[in-house]
Amino acid sequence: MTATVDNTGTPAAPPVETVTLTIDEVEVTVPKGTLIIRAAEQVGIQIPRFCDHPLLEPAGACRQCLVEVAMPDREGNVRPMPKPQASCTMTVTPGMVVKTQRTSPVADKAQQGVMELLLMNHPLDCPVCDKGGECPLQNQAMTNGRADSRFEDVKRTFPKPIAVSTEILLDRERCVLCQRCTRFSEEIAGDAFIALQERGAHQQIGRFDETVLDFAPPPSGPAETTAGVAAASTTGQPFSSYFSGNTVQICPVGALTGAAYRFRSRPFDLVSTPGVSEHDSCGSAIRVDHRRGVVLRRLSGEDPAVNEEWITDKDRFAFTWQAAPDRLTTPLVRDRRYDEDGNVVARGELRPASWVEAFELAAEGLAAARAAGGVGVLPGGRLTVEDAFAWSRFARTVLGTDDVDQRARVGSAEETAFLGHAVAGTGVGVTFGDVEAAPAVLLAGLEAEEEAGVTYLRLRKGVRKHGQRVWSVAPFASRGLARLDGTLLPAAPGTEAEWLGILATRADGGLVPADADAAALGAVADALAAPGALILVGERLASSPGAFAVALRLAAATGARVAWIPRRAGERGGVEAGLLPGLLPGGRPLTDPAARAEVAAAWGVDADALPTAPGRDAAEILDALSVGQLGGALVGGVELADLPDPAHARRALAGAGFVVSLEVRRSEVTDLADVVLPVAPPVERAGSYWNWEGRVRAFGQALDSAALPDHRVLDALADRAGVDLGAATPLDAHRAIAALPAWAGARLRAPEGEAVEPPEVPPGSAVLASWHLLLDDGALQDGEQFLAGTAKRPVARMSAATAAAVDVYDGDRVTVSTDRGSVTVPVAVTEMVDHVVWLPLASRGCRVHDALGAAAGDLVRIAPAAEPAGTTDGQGGAA
Ligand code: SF4
Ligand code: FES
Repeated sequence: MTATVDNTGTPAAPPVETVTLTIDEVEVTVPKGTLIIRAAEQVGIQIPRFCDHPLLEPAGACRQCLVEVAMPDREGNVRPMPKPQASCTMTVTPGMVVKTQRTSPVADKAQQGVMELLLMNHPLDCPVCDKGGECPLQNQAMTNGRADSRFEDVKRTFPKPIAVSTEILLDRERCVLCQRCTRFSEEIAGDAFIALQERGAHQQIGRFDETVLDFAPPPSGPAETTAGVAAASTTGQPFSSYFSGNTVQICPVGALTGAAYRFRSRPFDLVSTPGVSEHDSCGSAIRVDHRRGVVLRRLSGEDPAVNEEWITDKDRFAFTWQAAPDRLTTPLVRDRRYDEDGNVVARGELRPASWVEAFELAAEGLAAARAAGGVGVLPGGRLTVEDAFAWSRFARTVLGTDDVDQRARVGSAEETAFLGHAVAGTGVGVTFGDVEAAPAVLLAGLEAEEEAGVTYLRLRKGVRKHGQRVWSVAPFASRGLARLDGTLLPAAPGTEAEWLGILATRADGGLVPADADAAALGAVADALAAPGALILVGERLASSPGAFAVALRLAAATGARVAWIPRRAGERGGVEAGLLPGLLPGGRPLTDPAARAEVAAAWGVDADALPTAPGRDAAEILDALSVGQLGGALVGGVELADLPDPAHARRALAGAGFVVSLEVRRSEVTDLADVVLPVAPPVERAGSYWNWEGRVRAFGQALDSAALPDHRVLDALADRAGVDLGAATPLDAHRAIAALPAWAGARLRAPEGEAVEPPEVPPGSAVLASWHLLLDDGALQDGEQFLAGTAKRPVARMSAATAAAVDVYDGDRVTVSTDRGSVTVPVAVTEMVDHVVWLPLASRGCRVHDALGAAAGDLVRIAPAAEPAGTTDGQGGAA
């Protein structure tokens, strides 16, 4: 067989086999395997449909897309099929002749008949239905339906609505049984949270109810007491899905509605603005629908390269935080009283101030703090690209410091080296398409469903469509991993590097430890050596010494590509902008004179004005503030409770000489600040996010607002210091970014490190494992009580042996404690690594960093809860 090669020497893609047919007398040529309904779209012919969806498997459920089809027989005579055919399930064949409702009275009559049947029991309550005005049933009833109905009987009704979850409501009499919702839940999300139940005239969509579906013993309580709800009380697993809102969007009628939006607006009263979700690093396209300055709902946008047409429920429903009652609308300043030597003797209350006064005080205070030891810069991980570059430039030019770190989480010097070496300035690397097509994926320090939702959906698509194999280095197999048919490589937190190291050694042909399962290791190493294999690492590897270094070694040994998937929307952009110590924009090492010279030239400053030595990271900045080594701090969107040691951070900022806070809403930081400069949330400004792939996704301003974005505020503040930041408008900011050429010099050295021995675990103790759940107690979910109702309840996961060793059993309440405090939650006995206890990092009543002052990998004590039964779950508090 000879491969075709194009004139560049690259093997050309194999030619696509095509089929030519006729649709409504128009000849059309499409790839073999195309469905008739799609082929018709190619020539602008719209066949009505309800169940068809391009991202779901064909179902042929609604029969609305019937067309007349004729095909050539063996002798070439074109013979009509005896009955109209569903164009959404039938693929094209050569010489096929298709007649749609436009040219065939038979197809038109068939479609009208189906429409009449569908409308027979439909309530026709369009004036009060949320879907009215954007409803395919309503539209197609007008274009393809009969003008009148022959149905004179009583319509079938159901009690309504059913709460599928706190977020999703179901009005069954509107349902046309298209099964889009059930197919989405089975094929895309893998959550059986909604199901087709009963048969014949009683057939209906309902909550996934094991008793109705006949999988479980009869219910002992009311219908609402489903097996799922009962299970939720002990497993922490609610009766819902992280992706359930997508069913509301794809339901072609108003049968599924969102509780928050129900009866709030008519679609034709809404103004839609394309946006990008601020909730994770995926850069998912959304549509922001608003009316008279108020956002009423968000829908998934279409971005085939990124989120296709799906978003998480957090992307969809968590937007009320942007208009929360604690929004800052005016600058605040704190008056101070000084003694005759100029020392602060008293700090007053924050009071509203004009922008002019606030800028003056902030500029003076920051200049004084710079002179008194320097200013630490903590921008937070949620910045847009424009803001991130402005923060980086402000820190290096106005404040003259490299004490800058965006990580409001656990970080490490090894991670900084990894990001500077393998991520910053590398452009678009691994893409969502690569994730879908990869034959093998190794996840390390990353729970994709919880931390990067649509990435999980792409992995699942890869598993379903391409037979992808997934392994995860984690303490237990999560439900998300189970739905990927994934395999767990069990590791206690902090020991992930051990697995990665053994795999790298095996891939290099070296000797692996005698107790290792050589065959299993060989299978993983061989799979990672296949072309297209990927290693996806999360930010949590920062708490595992040696893990980033060994991940790169494994990649080199197998040829697999590595992608870093952080949680927050601004983290990749922050890495590109240099919001880490020792890293200038574009992956330039700060210690490289040529890199400094390039940046200085682009920023219009003298190269000598830039710092030359790598600065402090976030933990070191807080340490230095607490002992007075730094004179002040400039803080962005940082929640102190997210930091590994929130109590230390509070003390550090409370004792800092001068603190300026740029924030959207009142927070612990603003309460401690001397000057608060309010900034705009995403919905009130334009900007862009750099997603984890390295793709920039821009969004427009949805609401009219006088609020200023970070880059505008920093630009004005720099102006007071006599520095031109070049970031007054998004266009200026982009010009300033574009002025920096791609860096061609040396990069930061690759991180070095090896796995470390796990700590000895004394009796009554365990190693803490913890990560954020998608829905938790984060500030960006504030004000959305329907969404909060679908969050998983906090539980402590531990193996049966670990639980038995401290005399607790499944469902018992256990107290996890340190010298700093404790958390008490129910136990969920889980098949997992012994001597490990897992807690959700920041769920309601279980704020691990805050309550325990501990992070993943630390030792904690576990014991049966001492409190009397009946106390609420998840109580955290001081010991
Ligand atoms: Fe289709 Fe909506 Fe009924 Fe689900 S609820 S089957 S999406 S009409
Ligand atoms: Fe073809 Fe439903 S769209 S059967």
